Amino acid sequence: MLGKLKPYLLRYRSLLVIIVFLMAIVALLGGFTISMITPIVSAIFGKEYASSGPPLFRFLIDWVDTGLPISSMFRLAIALIIVYGVKFPLSLLLFFFSYNFEQKIIEDLRTELFTKLTHLSLKFHTNSNTGELLSKITNDTEKIQYALWRGIIHLGRHLFMLIVYIGLALWASWRLFLISIVLVPLTLWFLNLVGMRVRGRFTNLRKIRGKLNAMAVEMLKGIKIIKAFNMENTEVERFKRMNRLYRRSYVKSQVLKEILPEFSEVLGAILASLILVSGGILIFKGIITPDKFLIFLGSIVLAQNPLRQVYLAYGDMQHGLANMESVLEVLEKDEYVEDRGTRVLKEFKNRIEYRNVSFSYQGNIPVLKDINLVIKRGETIAIVGHTGSGKTTLVNLLLRFFDPSEGQVLIDGIDIREFTLKSLREKIGYVSQDVILFNDTIRNNILYARPDAGEKELEEAIQRSRLDRILDHFPKGLDTEIGEMGERLSGGEKQLISLARVVLKNPEILVLDEATSALDAESENLLQSALGEILENKTVIVIAHRLSTIQNADRIVVLEKGSIVEVGNHSELLSKNGLYAKLYRLQFTENGEA
Ligand SMILES: Nc1ncnc2c1ncn2[C@@H]1O[C@H](COP(=O)(O)OP(=O)(O)O)[C@@H](O)[C@H]1O
Ligand SMILES: [Mg+2]
Repeated sequence: MLGKLKPYLLRYRSLLVIIVFLMAIVALLGGFTISMITPIVSAIFGKEYASSGPPLFRFLIDWVDTGLPISSMFRLAIALIIVYGVKFPLSLLLFFFSYNFEQKIIEDLRTELFTKLTHLSLKFHTNSNTGELLSKITNDTEKIQYALWRGIIHLGRHLFMLIVYIGLALWASWRLFLISIVLVPLTLWFLNLVGMRVRGRFTNLRKIRGKLNAMAVEMLKGIKIIKAFNMENTEVERFKRMNRLYRRSYVKSQVLKEILPEFSEVLGAILASLILVSGGILIFKGIITPDKFLIFLGSIVLAQNPLRQVYLAYGDMQHGLANMESVLEVLEKDEYVEDRGTRVLKEFKNRIEYRNVSFSYQGNIPVLKDINLVIKRGETIAIVGHTGSGKTTLVNLLLRFFDPSEGQVLIDGIDIREFTLKSLREKIGYVSQDVILFNDTIRNNILYARPDAGEKELEEAIQRSRLDRILDHFPKGLDTEIGEMGERLSGGEKQLISLARVVLKNPEILVLDEATSALDAESENLLQSALGEILENKTVIVIAHRLSTIQNADRIVVLEKGSIVEVGNHSELLSKNGLYAKLYRLQFTENGEA
């Protein structure tokens, strides 16, 4: 059952051995306390009323039991203080090792997940739900942690206690033990019955809480739309209903949960009466001594809690293992863009070529169809076409975010799959369609391209990308924290920052995917003047909606439904009066109206 967790547990087996050892000692020390009943009875009532005590603890019992009540009690007091004085640091040590054990495993799992997810291909990522993946890193590992604690540490600790108490009870009187066991099936049946109900209730409760959270998230995300449609009150009402449901469901489940411990007390009372009556008879008949009877009673009472904990731990462990599955699902994934290439792309000399390239994301719906395109070094190629025509996909293939389903992409005549991914991507600067910035300062976001870049290089990049012209938009200049995913910046600001980032990288090949789409007139002017300079001596593939940004391209490639339909420069394509001309006119009138 622990199968999938086993390799992780075994990784820290020496720690586990220490933990088990400490658990055993701590449990034994607990058993010692209750064995002290023997010398107490002997000292107070006389030797004939007491046995010689449980064998394991006899040496201490003999030392305590001097035969004289006062000195026995005195020694007992000392013994107790010593035992607890030893138990205290040992328990702490046990916890220290236990938490370490648990956290090392969780640390490993979390890192492995993160590493795996960073390396898995974009194909995997585009087909996965980000929220779900996120919850694997946070929620699932947390639940596995809980299961580890409950199912191994907690379970182990209580299992040892149980063994000690049951051992003591058996030693005291196997007859009484058999009698009390009668109640076990009844208890188990009851625990199971209530346990099932409780679990059902709590699953339900979790679902409601999930909905409640989802509602809040939706409200916060959709606040604009809610207001625009005057739906504030409706939303609040919806939330109130769900909230009320949660409260009711919560109260029901909690009360149900309390039945267990409460009823256990009743069962305890029944057990106690059984033991009292039969124990009385056994003592009266001289079969057991009173100290044994008391030790038996004490052990059985003390065994109740570990018994229950062991029982509960089983369920918790099951639960955690379900989450382990969910994590392993990712850890066992094998969707990488193959990085089998061994050649290092040292220098881009000549040309990029798409040769008979076709591509589909899913099944056989082609997104690119038989693309043939040669881009010479130093050329600026613009790619235009309707949304969804495959422009982004085309450049994705050059960066090897995906590999073509058919055909090849070549650099200087060599299939790019033969290059190492690292050397290939080092040569290419990429500004993505949706600008991605990290939750850090503007400076660090730019330095992301080359963390080792000096202050001078950084400044130059900022100048060349014209970011310096708008630095006064930011309260702390370059050291402004940009907020998660750059939420606090305008689209244009973000694009200029991402441009500075790529300028700092200073790659030979530059890919700009609609790098100007979010720009306002001011930023666009800035960008235009920046681009002229940046693109010099570079090989550039620029995708743009705004035809104004591409009129100066050497060649324009027009994509339509995954195929190249026209190639030429601005005036050639205009005179051809095809798709480009149409797109251009649309743009022109739009601008005219604006
Ligand atoms: N990860 C993906 N999975 C499935 N289909 C995708 C994916 N990315 C894009 N597509 C589809 O591929 C087609 C081309 O997309 P894209 O290259 O982004 O077009 P463009 O950049 O020209 O707007 C579109 O129909 C789009 O819906
Ligand atoms: Mg696109």
